[in-house]
Amino acid sequence: MSADVAEELRALLVGESDPVARAANTAALIFSRVPDLNWAGFYFLRGDTLVVGPFQGLPACTRIPLGRGVCGTAAARRETIVVPDVHAFEGHIACDSASQSEIVVPLIARGALVGVLDIDSPVLGRFGEAEKDMFETLAGIYVKEAVLF
Ligand code: SME
Repeated sequence: MSADVAEELRALLVGESDPVARAANTAALIFSRVPDLNWAGFYFLRGDTLVVGPFQGLPACTRIPLGRGVCGTAAARRETIVVPDVHAFEGHIACDSASQSEIVVPLIARGALVGVLDIDSPVLGRFGEAEKDMFETLAGIYVKEAVLF
């Protein structure tokens, strides 16, 4: 399925460089095509704060300082973080009480951190190596050719 979703995303984004349009359709595609999710979307870096961008799911916290929560930690480390149980991650920021597991992929464009892709699931341990590969691929497709952040 991951190859199909990646192909769908490429087809959806081709020829569109606007970052909000790209992010909105990326979030909608992930949320509609990947089972067992309750939140999928973006935070963009504004100064030293992550600010929520296009997403699917319940309203979420608007601003997350770098280094805070799963999102801020993944951004500060510039590394994907997979959290099998959000209750076991110290400093996790609960936006939707349904969330049980989470994955956050940093968005790096031309060497610069521009934000994160954040995915939440109501299922414990929803994200493993296969999902990490898939979301890193999707984040890479999103970043490629987006000209403004
Ligand atoms: N759980 C995240 C906050 C964002 S919501 O999941 C949408 C975190 O700890 O950074």
